[in-house]
Amino acid sequence: MIYDLVIIGSGPGGYVAAIRAGQLGMKTAIIEKYNTLGGTCLNVGCIPSKALLDSSEHYHQLNHTFAEHGISAQKVSLDMPQMIERKNQVVSQTCDGVKFLMKKNKVDVYYGHGSFLDATHVKVIAADKTETILTAGTVIIATGSKPVTPPAMGYDKNRVITSTETLNITSLPKHMVIIGAGVIGLELGSVFARLGTKVEVVEYLDRILPGMDTDAAKELMRSLKKLGITFHLSHEVISVKGSKTKAKVEMKPRAGGDAITLDTDYCLIAIGRRPYTEGLGLENTGVKLDEKGKIIVGEHLRTDEPNIYAIGDVIKGAMLAHKAEEEGIYVVETIAGQKPHIDYNLIPGVVYTWPEIASVGKTEETLKAEGVEFKVGKFPMKALGRSRASGDTEGFVKVIAQKDTDEILGVHMFAARAADLIMEGVALMEFRASAEDMARISHPHPTFSEAIKEAALDATEKRALHF
Ligand code: FAD
Ligand code: NAI
Repeated sequence: MIYDLVIIGSGPGGYVAAIRAGQLGMKTAIIEKYNTLGGTCLNVGCIPSKALLDSSEHYHQLNHTFAEHGISAQKVSLDMPQMIERKNQVVSQTCDGVKFLMKKNKVDVYYGHGSFLDATHVKVIAADKTETILTAGTVIIATGSKPVTPPAMGYDKNRVITSTETLNITSLPKHMVIIGAGVIGLELGSVFARLGTKVEVVEYLDRILPGMDTDAAKELMRSLKKLGITFHLSHEVISVKGSKTKAKVEMKPRAGGDAITLDTDYCLIAIGRRPYTEGLGLENTGVKLDEKGKIIVGEHLRTDEPNIYAIGDVIKGAMLAHKAEEEGIYVVETIAGQKPHIDYNLIPGVVYTWPEIASVGKTEETLKAEGVEFKVGKFPMKALGRSRASGDTEGFVKVIAQKDTDEILGVHMFAARAADLIMEGVALMEFRASAEDMARISHPHPTFSEAIKEAALDATEKRALHF
């Protein structure tokens, strides 16, 4: 079969690229080695983790905050198999949606492992071993990433697990150790802590969420401690050993001192993800990898092989679904002769704990390192009527603006519904608005979004109204 475009990998990078290619009239094929479309994000990432975050938050609220609202319930119980079943249904509905979108956009789907025979020929080996060879004008590699699992951590998919297996635990563990206080560790740690598991997090660095706003990370850590999570910061894991029903985690403080052993039901390894290019046949092409195994791309996300592009987790940059999507669209529009643009500084990041952390643009730490002069406005959520009404008083919004021009350089928040609120910061920064512009926009009352207006007022002239 001959195609204008062949895409390897059907995650948010690959499938969105396929839709855009279909819209632009390209004869397109997408190859996926699993038998469902959607990649990490839909099958074992964003969607299932958010389904469990929502379910566990309902359970936690019913047990801990509903009484304050005058609502009581007797015999509250947890049905983990049902919670997981609901999560599976959400996943399968979402994946089926992608299948429908491929059909709608006339994209041919090949289920099987894709590998390069040369730069313009890709072989697909299906589960039943049948082989198909596709001839491609252009190829996009969108093969994503896999969890990092060092040999010393004894990953066994049974008691020493990654996020993939964690999303399918159907019997509530009494105890869980999580290695890594990054996004996965804190999101899945929240799920289990809310359900009643004793969660302990081991982190190599002296803080959680490296790279994110320091104040937000500190407040989140305080909040998670209240939820019952224990943190071992600045600790190094020496070994993890799993048995049939338990795991043993050995660690030691980085500052020196005796080794500590934690006996646990499950150990979740959440120390980052690595690009996935295994068995892709890159050696048959001119595509090159960097020292971290990421595919090297240059201008327009083109690899060293002129007709091959790469997008998403398999290349440099944040490993985020919406980053992969933007890159998919960018490459397809570039191939079609258009002039698309991505501003990587304006790709927002969200941590779906409760409250949530959301962030766009530069942090104070980065601006200091870059020698940029800036001013900061901050507003606490507890000063908002809306927060008091709902009982979500934790957190703050921070707006950072250039000292002289007042241009917004960053917005960071730890707040209820921050994941959705951050879009105001993204949109205004896209249009290079000032903090004063943000402050002068009418925000509906009473909403959480008023905290953004107030933080912007604080940044502009230190004149927040309600604090
Ligand atoms: P992937 O989604 O990894 O898709 C790659 C696809 O390629 C896979 O389906 C794979 O099977 C296929 N493939 C690989 N090699 C081959 C081959 N040789 N032949 C055929 N097919 C192949 N990001 C967010 O933005 N928000 C979130 O809330 C969020 N939550 C997450 C929660 C968890 C638990 C995890 C693990 C990740 C989360 N992420 C989140 C990250 C997000 O899932 C990734 O950034 C995103 O999926 C990357 O998209 P991609 O298209 O580059 O690759
Ligand atoms: P991460 O990079 O977010 O965090 C890894 C953490 O582990 C860091 O704090 C790091 O210092 C620590 N660490 C590394 N090695 C360690 C060791 N040996 N011992 C102890 N700690 C160690 O990686 P994570 O959480 O695995 O997530 C992977 C990717 O998935 C992230 O890049 C993230 O962007 C994406 N993701 C995004 C989500 C979102 O957008 N809400 C949700 C979940 C994942």
